[in-house]
Amino acid sequence: MATAANLLPTVFVIFGATGDLMQKKLAPALFHLYQERLLPDLFQVVGFSKQELSHEEFQAWISDKVGGNSEFSKFFLYQQGLFEEKEGYQKLSEFLGMKDGEWQVCSNKLFYIAASPQYYKTLFEKLAESGLTKPCSPEEGWTRVIVEKPFGKDLETAEELDKLLGKLFKEEQVYRIDHYLGKDTVQNILAFRFSNSFLQDSWNNQGVESITIRLFEKEGVGERGLFYEGIGALRDVGQNHLLQLLALFTMENPGSFEGDAIRKARARVLRCLKVSDGSETVRGQYEGYLQEKNIAPDSTTETYFKIQTFLETSQWRGVPITLESGKAMPEDRVEVHVVFRHPSPCLCPPEPGKHYKNILHYFIQPKEGITLSMWARKPGHGMEIEERALSFDYREAFQKEEFADAYERLLLNCIQGDQTLFVSTEEIMAEWKFVDPILRSWQVNKVPLTIYKPGTIPS
Ligand code: BG6
Repeated sequence: MATAANLLPTVFVIFGATGDLMQKKLAPALFHLYQERLLPDLFQVVGFSKQELSHEEFQAWISDKVGGNSEFSKFFLYQQGLFEEKEGYQKLSEFLGMKDGEWQVCSNKLFYIAASPQYYKTLFEKLAESGLTKPCSPEEGWTRVIVEKPFGKDLETAEELDKLLGKLFKEEQVYRIDHYLGKDTVQNILAFRFSNSFLQDSWNNQGVESITIRLFEKEGVGERGLFYEGIGALRDVGQNHLLQLLALFTMENPGSFEGDAIRKARARVLRCLKVSDGSETVRGQYEGYLQEKNIAPDSTTETYFKIQTFLETSQWRGVPITLESGKAMPEDRVEVHVVFRHPSPCLCPPEPGKHYKNILHYFIQPKEGITLSMWARKPGHGMEIEERALSFDYREAFQKEEFADAYERLLLNCIQGDQTLFVSTEEIMAEWKFVDPILRSWQVNKVPLTIYKPGTIPS
């Protein structure tokens, strides 16, 4: 594994550096990596945004986000610029040249696109025109780009963006974020599935009756109306996080933990999702959404969805898969349920209609762990069988108070050149192919928008 000592000097250029992501995720993640001495000894962060700020003001703002550490914030500099004007990019390019001169090395350059998705196209075009992303020599110093989600609004725009990006970078330089992949509990899915032999024979349509993937959030859209409006729950978390969870739960054994093999296996299963005409869906909007900041008064943006689908593979054909997510739900809960079939014949007490099934509850957050509901004979003289749980608590088992934030791991992996936890272009396109027809059916109101009370689940 690469450590600070064997990493080349690196410059991080962050577009959209004064936004939500920078303050909530990127600055704290970089700070922790710095504290753990996992960043190169020589590194520099350049924030690029439209706001007028001096280096000192930017540094003070960063310092505030990392508990007042002004020593760390000295690694940050600021470049004001508009995404649509070439001047800012030129100045950036001059600065990067100067930095390499000062360090006397052709440094690594990491471009992080943390700007609002509506600017992606402009940003990619301007980056191409400015030549900023060209490595200074073929032998030394890499250039990589991290792109936030959502990547496109639909299949067509995603393909268009991909084409533009393809002019600037090769696929091995592109790191598309789905931060769910960086979570410990999500990375544990493959370990759980493929390192535990007892699951192997029943992990298919013979053994499994149904799968449910759920991402519930208690909060509404809050301050993020500008981003969320017109995007909606399905594009925000369905097209990416939920489908990635689905891929990890249903993909074939990749043969190794090697990045390329895992990405290919995820893409293969995503391509087998049955295309839906939208009829097996529910879409909802919480009461009060229209009064949130930056929301159109007649908005039909969904804040909740439920979709039933299937995989057209021999392993999973016929197993209903439910994807469900919402804002303003009764609680925060991200989990996957796998219901196993009732064994036949079953040594179950003769209670008509009662099915003794096992259910695997895979908890992603805020509870992190795995529970398998199983049936146990009640002690005593009879033969009464009751449902009990076999439980694994992730934090307790590993005596961890807190897991590292997903962004920390993702940034580190990008610096190390490991794309495993990033989404390939094949995966993105397969995800859009599944989501597009559903969005289109909602646009023509094929499924009515259900208004639900915050704290309840629409039906
Ligand atoms: C983001 C969405 O990708 O994921 C947000 O844009 C959502 O709307 C968030 O709240 C959920 O992520 P996490 O890590 O808090 O579960």
